[in-house]
Amino acid sequence: MAMIRVLLPFMLSFFTLQAAESTLTESKHYCSNSTTFSPNSTYHTNLKRVLDDLVREAGADADNGFNFTSRDASSGEAVYGSFMCRGDVSKKECMECVKNASHWINKICEMAKISFLWYDQCMLRYSDTNFTRKMELEPRLDGYNDENIDQSDEFMKLLNKTMDDTAREVARHPPRVYGHRKAKFSQEKTLYTFAQCVPYISNTDCGDCLRNATSSLLSLQKGKIGGRVLLPSCFVRFEIYPFYGSSSKGKGTLPSGQQIAAKRLSRSSGQGVEEFKTEVELVAKLQHRNLVRLLGFSMERDETILVYEYVPNGSLDHLLFVPNLSGQLDWSVRYKVMVGVARGLLYLHEDSRLRIIHRDLKASNILLDADMNPKISDFGMARIFGADQTQGSTNRIVGTYGYMSPEYLMFGQFSVKSDVFSYGVLMLEIITGKKNSQILAVDCDEGLLGHVWKHWSNNTPSEVVDPALSKAYPVNEVIRCMHIGLLCVQDNTEDRPSMDSVVLMLNSESISIPVPQTPSFFFPSKKYKPAPCVLNLDQSTGKADQCSSKITPPWSPTDSGASLSSKI
Ligand SMILES: *[C@@H]1O[C@H](CO)[C@@H](O)[C@H](O)[C@H]1NC(C)=O
Ligand SMILES: *[C@@H]1O[C@H](CO)[C@@H](O)[C@H](O)[C@H]1NC(C)=O
Ligand SMILES: *[C@@H]1O[C@H](CO)[C@@H](O)[C@H](O)[C@H]1NC(C)=O
Ligand SMILES: *[C@@H]1O[C@H](CO)[C@@H](O)[C@H](O)[C@H]1NC(C)=O
Ligand SMILES: *[C@@H]1O[C@H](CO)[C@@H](O)[C@H](O)[C@H]1NC(C)=O
Ligand SMILES: *[C@@H]1O[C@H](CO)[C@@H](O)[C@H](O)[C@H]1NC(C)=O
Ligand SMILES: *[C@@H]1O[C@H](CO)[C@@H](O)[C@H](O)[C@H]1NC(C)=O
Ligand SMILES: *[C@@H]1O[C@H](CO)[C@@H](O)[C@H](O)[C@H]1NC(C)=O
Ligand SMILES: *[C@@H]1O[C@H](CO)[C@@H](O)[C@H](O)[C@H]1NC(C)=O
Repeated sequence: MAMIRVLLPFMLSFFTLQAAESTLTESKHYCSNSTTFSPNSTYHTNLKRVLDDLVREAGADADNGFNFTSRDASSGEAVYGSFMCRGDVSKKECMECVKNASHWINKICEMAKISFLWYDQCMLRYSDTNFTRKMELEPRLDGYNDENIDQSDEFMKLLNKTMDDTAREVARHPPRVYGHRKAKFSQEKTLYTFAQCVPYISNTDCGDCLRNATSSLLSLQKGKIGGRVLLPSCFVRFEIYPFYGSSSKGKGTLPSGQQIAAKRLSRSSGQGVEEFKTEVELVAKLQHRNLVRLLGFSMERDETILVYEYVPNGSLDHLLFVPNLSGQLDWSVRYKVMVGVARGLLYLHEDSRLRIIHRDLKASNILLDADMNPKISDFGMARIFGADQTQGSTNRIVGTYGYMSPEYLMFGQFSVKSDVFSYGVLMLEIITGKKNSQILAVDCDEGLLGHVWKHWSNNTPSEVVDPALSKAYPVNEVIRCMHIGLLCVQDNTEDRPSMDSVVLMLNSESISIPVPQTPSFFFPSKKYKPAPCVLNLDQSTGKADQCSSKITPPWSPTDSGASLSSKI
């Protein structure tokens, strides 16, 4: 079933579950078509009243996420109705859910006298018989996540045990009708379980109901990564991401105690489900201390949720480019960030089983953990979306102005060396504390790369170092980093070092470094001649301005890699 929350942006491209707003996801319904009522009959009128009552009760202060009501009880046209919200949802969410359900149940089940409608957050039902105080195991509704889990036997054992523990806990504490647990399955995957009974049945009945539901769950959903069984008197659900909690508990941590970040993706059109799954699975296996870890993912219908570890100190661009914050980034942190990002990128390029070109490396994609270790995010997106080869030419550009190498921007040619270019821009931004918003500039405005190059060639490199560092830095190390950064942003791909050379140069002061050539674009070059004047691309609109003779890239690259069709 789809994620129940809309995730709001945390940083540019990262999202947390904590700032949540609800959307409703219809999950299952049951309509008994054997007994129906006629339009405008007494039953119809009573039904409308019952539904109105329930909506009103859901909004009432006294409400506890549950109500039962009836009209014309004991008469031939009696209608009994009830709603129950999942125990962890907020009152507001509960009310919205019941409101919507009361509207949709009539559309879905039309004239059925007995109907059930389940959303992720609530269940609404009505009937012509008095069902309260009864334990009912039918009708049974169920659903599961298509995706299979690795090591399914072990997983089923863990699920059996965890669900059993959850159910016991719920049945043991009568006023509390729901419970949840989590259990670590593997390094990357955690199992989350949830169980709930209607409040009007006994402990024993609750236990029986949950046992029945759990048995069905285990037999129906063998080896799947998520599923649920919904009975009139109880329900159980499991996923490999924390689907419960959060908004009702205020901002901060999930009830599980674990902080996570989630990203919702939509498959690009024309891409096969299987192909998409395979790529997500491959990318999920990549692990390195300088990559944001993908903890798990969930796929259902057209929606995929990627669950990432939560990286507490936000993104580098935030710290680097907000004036009052950049002071917190002293030179040792900046150096650690450059080295860590280089290692993460090297892993993507060379050391992982897949050879991955990031294609959108930039300050906002570098997250910092509590110890200010950098972690690269959004890697593997081009691959997930079926756009990656390790080298080639594309008309689907997925980069960000300011970080794209000239051959990628102009001709769509990408390779590990286009990532090296982006890394070079990042290094120079870290050193100077300035954002490279210019991509092409020849005369009027030199841009960040031109600015650094000018001072480098005039032998005044210290003048471009971020003033926030207050001259408290080892001059030789800073200049060496600037030197490496300039090597990375050279025009010719062959002149740019590979990431393993970059790591070597950063790690060893004794290694000699070649002399850099003029960086791309900033001075007329043989290769990229077409611009005799300024081409100043406006970052937000992608339009060139004040230019008599323009180069227009054959596509319109977008900021923040939006053409990856990743959205939230
Ligand atoms: C509630 O239902 C209406 C249709 O009646 C739908 O348009 C709306 O999006 C639903 N609200 C939520 C929060 O899902
Ligand atoms: C009853 O009819 C509704 C609407 O036509 C349909 O969606 C539903 O599946 C039917 N229920 C059963 C149990 O056949
Ligand atoms: C039910 O009542 C409404 C107005 O109260 C009327 O418009 C509609 O035609 C009636 N339907 C039937 C089937 O009698
Ligand atoms: C339903 O709500 C009403 C009004 O808030 C309350 O008096 C009643 O006890 C509730 N019924 C149940 C079964 O909780
Ligand atoms: C429904 O049944 C229960 C248990 O038998 C009884 O306590 C309750 O009064 C009945 N409710 C109505 C509205 O008939
Ligand atoms: C659950 O209860 C139903 C109804 O009593 C029964 O038919 C079914 O076999 C039970 N399922 C399990 C797995 O115990
Ligand atoms: C679940 O575990 C119990 C023992 O705790 C076992 O009897 C039962 O067969 C298991 N169920 C499944 C479906 O593996
Ligand atoms: C920076 O700090 C100064 C003084 O502490 C404050 O007045 C100013 O608003 C801050 N600027 C930003 C962008 O936070
Ligand atoms: C980084 O996180 C740690 C621990 O959460 C915190 O103490 C520190 O202030 C944070 N630093 C920055 C620059 O946000």
